[in-house]
Amino acid sequence: MTTLKKAPVEVKVSPSHTMRALIKHHAGPELQFVPDRAKPVPGPRDVLVRVSKVGICGTDRHIWEWDAWAASRIPVGIVTGHEFVGVIEAVGSAVTKYQPGLRVSAEGHVTAWKDYNSRTGNAHIASDTRIIGIDRDGCFADYVVVPEENVWPVHPSIPDRIAAVLDPLGNAVHTVMAAGVSAKSVLVTGTGIIGLMAVTVAKAAGAGRIFATDVDPKRRALAKKLGAVEAFDPRQEGWIAEVRKSCRGEGADVLLEMSGAEPALTQGFDALRNGGTAALLGLFKGPVHFDINRLVVFKGCTVLGINGRKMFETWYQMEELLLSGKLELDDIVTHEFPLEQFKKAHHTMISGEGIKVVMNVNG
Ligand SMILES: NC(=O)c1ccc[n+]([C@@H]2O[C@H](COP(=O)([O-])OP(=O)(O)OC[C@H]3O[C@@H](n4cnc5c(N)ncnc54)[C@H](O)[C@@H]3O)[C@@H](O)[C@H]2O)c1
Ligand SMILES: [Zn+2]
Repeated sequence: MTTLKKAPVEVKVSPSHTMRALIKHHAGPELQFVPDRAKPVPGPRDVLVRVSKVGICGTDRHIWEWDAWAASRIPVGIVTGHEFVGVIEAVGSAVTKYQPGLRVSAEGHVTAWKDYNSRTGNAHIASDTRIIGIDRDGCFADYVVVPEENVWPVHPSIPDRIAAVLDPLGNAVHTVMAAGVSAKSVLVTGTGIIGLMAVTVAKAAGAGRIFATDVDPKRRALAKKLGAVEAFDPRQEGWIAEVRKSCRGEGADVLLEMSGAEPALTQGFDALRNGGTAALLGLFKGPVHFDINRLVVFKGCTVLGINGRKMFETWYQMEELLLSGKLELDDIVTHEFPLEQFKKAHHTMISGEGIKVVMNVNG
């Protein structure tokens, strides 16, 4: 049988049916700007959001760099991005809760609400979770479609610049709240985007002294500005003994692991007191070498895996914390670029020059 290569069919789309988008155009690094992606059409229970601003996440970095995880997970052709704020432009025929004109963000974990966890208050770990910008088209575009169930109306006093990054802020709030930090000594290993957010969230949530580690001096300085009493270079000898000494000679009550760096895991548990609580958010490059007997079993500590944000408990907590005026996020959201400067925006984030980088789509 012979295969005849057919000439590509040119599809004519009227301008109002197209939009600007960043897509993963090939199985390799970077993204491509396309001016004429077909504008998505909402299903009966979806809303169509005109995107105002988006945040570039560590996950987007993996997708940009096309590492092993991205290559195994991201479908070529997808519109990337999952952190956004925008305005509802249209709603599907069966949508009852929301109207066009509402300013919204959205929970990026999409589930059919059928499995055990989504029916028992833990939809963030539903077995059928599909994530926007990873498993389905995302928000680095003029428009994104999300299910009505995932919509989060944004309080009018929260500016777009902050509303665009509720997703990572929610990671920090989820981790801090799950661990329980009130009147406790807290160690944050890795004060990158989410670790820095966790410092300000933990402080607002009534933590006792907050200790931090990071290999980057700028981030250590910012951790201290945001409320850490001490920020250590994890490669410097003696810092674990110092934390233990200042915490009754036993160690910190709570560990928030937010680096995803293997050495930080053992260090963090070494600095945790017996019977303490460790909440693990950081994602490691692969399986890690870790002494469970010494650092978990004999310590008698509680270990929590933290995935995403609780739907929607974390979102309510986050809103309340933001409205309290206690969170200091201005120094964490360091840069803003127009969508067209997406290369500069990604490089600013990847190089470490910026911390949280936002792109302005229709802001
Ligand atoms: N579980 C989840 O739902 C979830 C969601 C988002 C991100 N994550 C993961 O959480 C982690 C933090 O995300 P982020 O966006 O803040 O990333 P980030 O890259 O901004 O932060 C990581 C920080 O760890 C620091 N670091 C590197 N090696 C270290 C070491 N040995 N000790 C201490 N710090 C070290 C880096 O300098 C950086 O500041 C990442 O691993 C990310 O993949 C998990
Ligand atoms: Zn994110």
